[in-house]
Amino acid sequence: MKRIGVFTSGGDAPGMNACLRAVVRTAIYHGIEVYGIRRGYSGMIHGDFCKLESHSVSNLVQKGGTFLKSARSPEFMTKEGRQKAYEQIQSAGIEGLVAIGGNGTFTGATKFYDEFGIPTVGAPGTIDNDLFGTDYTIGYDTAVNTALDSIDKIRDTADSHDRVFFIEVMGRDSGYIAVPCAIGGGAEIAMIPEATVTVESIIDKIKIDWLHAKTSSIVIIAEGEVEGGSTKVAAKVREALPDMDARVTILGHVQRGGAPTAFDRLLASRLGIACVKGLLEGQKDVMAGTINSKLVYTPLIDTIAKKKEISPEYTRMIEILSI
Ligand code: F6P
Repeated sequence: MKRIGVFTSGGDAPGMNACLRAVVRTAIYHGIEVYGIRRGYSGMIHGDFCKLESHSVSNLVQKGGTFLKSARSPEFMTKEGRQKAYEQIQSAGIEGLVAIGGNGTFTGATKFYDEFGIPTVGAPGTIDNDLFGTDYTIGYDTAVNTALDSIDKIRDTADSHDRVFFIEVMGRDSGYIAVPCAIGGGAEIAMIPEATVTVESIIDKIKIDWLHAKTSSIVIIAEGEVEGGSTKVAAKVREALPDMDARVTILGHVQRGGAPTAFDRLLASRLGIACVKGLLEGQKDVMAGTINSKLVYTPLIDTIAKKKEISPEYTRMIEILSI
């Protein structure tokens, strides 16, 4: 393999830059040329490629976002779009791909591999941590710490004003961000897509807590939970408990930005190296991840089709620690 391409796709995640840096430098270290593909699959379709040198990735390991930019590409979901992307990859002489992203990125990558056979190794880059085949995804640790920092600040004001706060964190299909935020932020309840927590049970819990002299409550809500989202849940609680002073905070995209934590820089660098090594060793259609701190390669299809469960121990912890 003499030339590879690398891209970031889907929602960005802190540590993507550190991963790109590792991919570029590992490839050059092994005498392989690297092309950056801007804006994910959209750049692939339009041939938006740039040759990357070692200095192209200087001063990046500590930066949030992705210098190659990211996008979600509806065109790549079509056969015609993927055909165009293949023609661009062919004419640029790219023989292998490193795809950094989440489940949407890997859905596209495995389809592309099936259709055109270009060896692809993925690095899990998403704040959601919802990919099977790795204990942690790049950006997750940073996102949780960013969210926790805000939750701590909200707790200060909730306490001063004797209020109930409903704090919505990201996680379209998973409670991976919500659960550690609830435990680390001392929240009373976490609502996550994986487990149904009814509004009625929240109302009961707040009533009992306040009878036992609590003067502030925090409910962490993952955006994908099933009761309708933070605003709806808060409205129902307000209706049932009109004396409660309730507020909603949606943390939103603040969770996707910022400098990666030490954990994410290390993980991103390790997985970036593993992606290139994987390609050199003949890996195709897999994701590099870590399980119990060991490097593993998992078929891309499994990373999206299999479910990484949240341990019930964590939900139980929230219940015990919030009495
Ligand atoms: O996939 C990461 C993620 O941040 C999800 O948690 C969230 O639902 C989604 O992206 C938001 O995507 P967008 O930035 O396109 O609105």
